[in-house]
Amino acid sequence: MRNIEDILKDMTMEEKLGQLAQYNANLFLNSDADITGPLTELGLTTEELKNVGSVLNFRNAREVCTIQKQHLEADRHKIPMLFMMDVIHGYRTIYPIPLGLGCSFDTELVEACTRMASREATAAGVQVTFTPMVDYVRDARWGRVMETCGEDTLVNSRMGAAQVRAFQGESLKDKSTMATCVKHYAAYGGAEAGRDYNQVELSEHSLREFYLPAYKACLDAGAEMLMPAFNTLNGVPCVANPWLMQTVLREDWGHDPLVISDYNAIGELRKHGVAENMKQAAKLAFENGCHIEMCSSGYIKYLKELVQEGVFTEEQVDDACRKVLQLKEKLGLFEDPYRGCSPEGEAKAMLTPENRALARKAARECAVLLKNEGVLPLSGQEKKIALIGPMASTNALKGFWACQGRDEETVSVEEGMRNALPEARIVAVRGCGNTCQDLDMSGFAEAVEAAKEADVVILCLGEPQDYSGEGNSRAELELPGVQTELAEAVIGANPNTAVVLFSGRPLVLTRLEKMAKAMLTMWFPGTEAGNAVADLLLGKANPCGKLTMTFPAAVGQCPIYYNHPRTGRPKPANKDGVHMPYTSNYIECGNLPLYSFGHGLSYSKFVYEGLTLSADSFTAGEKVTATVTLRNESDRSGKETVMLYMQDVVASNTRPVQQLLDYVKVELAPRECREVTFTITEEQLRFWNNAHRFVSEPGLFRISTGYADHLLHTKELTLK
Ligand code: GLC
Repeated sequence: MRNIEDILKDMTMEEKLGQLAQYNANLFLNSDADITGPLTELGLTTEELKNVGSVLNFRNAREVCTIQKQHLEADRHKIPMLFMMDVIHGYRTIYPIPLGLGCSFDTELVEACTRMASREATAAGVQVTFTPMVDYVRDARWGRVMETCGEDTLVNSRMGAAQVRAFQGESLKDKSTMATCVKHYAAYGGAEAGRDYNQVELSEHSLREFYLPAYKACLDAGAEMLMPAFNTLNGVPCVANPWLMQTVLREDWGHDPLVISDYNAIGELRKHGVAENMKQAAKLAFENGCHIEMCSSGYIKYLKELVQEGVFTEEQVDDACRKVLQLKEKLGLFEDPYRGCSPEGEAKAMLTPENRALARKAARECAVLLKNEGVLPLSGQEKKIALIGPMASTNALKGFWACQGRDEETVSVEEGMRNALPEARIVAVRGCGNTCQDLDMSGFAEAVEAAKEADVVILCLGEPQDYSGEGNSRAELELPGVQTELAEAVIGANPNTAVVLFSGRPLVLTRLEKMAKAMLTMWFPGTEAGNAVADLLLGKANPCGKLTMTFPAAVGQCPIYYNHPRTGRPKPANKDGVHMPYTSNYIECGNLPLYSFGHGLSYSKFVYEGLTLSADSFTAGEKVTATVTLRNESDRSGKETVMLYMQDVVASNTRPVQQLLDYVKVELAPRECREVTFTITEEQLRFWNNAHRFVSEPGLFRISTGYADHLLHTKELTLK
């Protein structure tokens, strides 16, 4: 096999520029593949298309093999194409959306799901995934909140790094692994007012402490690629942002990944108003170290001219091209351009019983029991069960970024319950729709009748799966349509009702919470949705998820998050929403959330009996052991994520009221008491100070367990 330098020497400028471009599969297939974004302006010649080095939005192994074969027959250097896709939470067997995965607080589970996705995706010819997405987020109005692990940097960092390790494995020569592309760099989740693609204005300390670390954690874990975000950051679009792309990424962090733009993001520099034309857009992106241009044609059309004008050197083009060829080499594409994929292998790899079983387990572990006053778990002896609501019989439960997942392969709640209780009389009634336009209440009467007849009601409510995800921000966070009114009618007819929720974001459930005795959120749980719901409702599985994102009491509270900075007039801890003048409060409601970060109930009864520290002071070189005593005071085994929080009491910067220092998930047998230990180090206490450095400062810290607004057993610890 020829080495990359020899190939580079032989390549023309046009051939090199082809390696720096990526377009949709349909341009190579003339298929009807889904075209997203503005492809109209591409204007590529067939000659230019022939040189293109990578593809996205293909659909299966057959398309990969067709494109690769026809490309290699025509390519002078026999340089294989690179096939990339958004494998976000599953390829064909879909597991919970990442916002749900984070709630499992189980890195091993996330790695197992990710390896499954990698096996399925590589069997279908995917070589690179545009994953992990680790955009830190505090505003539930933003649609892509469903793609992240929420409002805590530690959780996002650990879950992102876990996906990198699991997708990339020990070596990319292993044909069941694929390269990862961490995105969207940076702070896409900080879009003003939750409006997708909107500008992001953040201080450096917010960026350094909250929004940036998870990208670095993924790069430190070995992510091969990085994708800058669509948004501007402090006035400059990310793909052309020297502070992000040079100062932070390359100088501070010392990383130099292969960088690919987001879809037409280079072309959109003109819309941002920072480039007069496509040539200037190409210049801005290339000079900031973006190597591959996705779905716009500035590089192919203008980089040669920019080299001829002396704006760039041919060596710079070679450097970019070399990085692309090096990734292809790492993936073994020069030896096997198909990496062993075939339609036959693809069919065998999909939706195996093991894959479905893992997806079902993940859906159980990601569910969060928000409330339970004696309704759950069901006894299993219920003779008459009413399944009511727009989410009771739908198969549309896989989420927005469900890759090649199919609704028809997804188990509905009705199917899951009938699988679990073949003898029971189960009546399913839709009652109403689930969109903002569905205001028809004519189905209520039938729903109320079914509720009256039933021993128990399972009320399945939520958002349509396309109410979250890219471009799907919401201005309201209540259940869409008249679902809350349906709940009022149904619960009024039969209070023995458990609400099961499906959404891609935290919802405002304040009215519903007052009526419902039990509420379980499943997020969008994926292929095995209905079976996992049945497992949980019937007590075959014990809910153990904890929220990684705050549920607001009202949309006006957004952005609202647990680790907010302190203020001079801290919020009064009143739950009644009584207005307290001269405090940071709202007249209509308190400024406490409905459910905070870390909230999540179990069928077991966990008691936090104590917290001890091995010392009450320490120096930078020392470590302190924190020991939490946890008891399961029930006859049911269960899992609990034990969390350790800290507050830096006085510092040169205002510090968060609290922040998660560490967590560990444990399973306790009935009546078991367990000591859970954590190690506290000085590094964990550092913050970005006004001298633009990560430092810790000597002083008092408060260490607690429990969770966000239920901190327990607080102990004082002094850093000397
Ligand atoms: C989309 C998304 C990005 C995705 C890319 C390719 O617009 O912003 O997350 O990876 O295009 O599908």
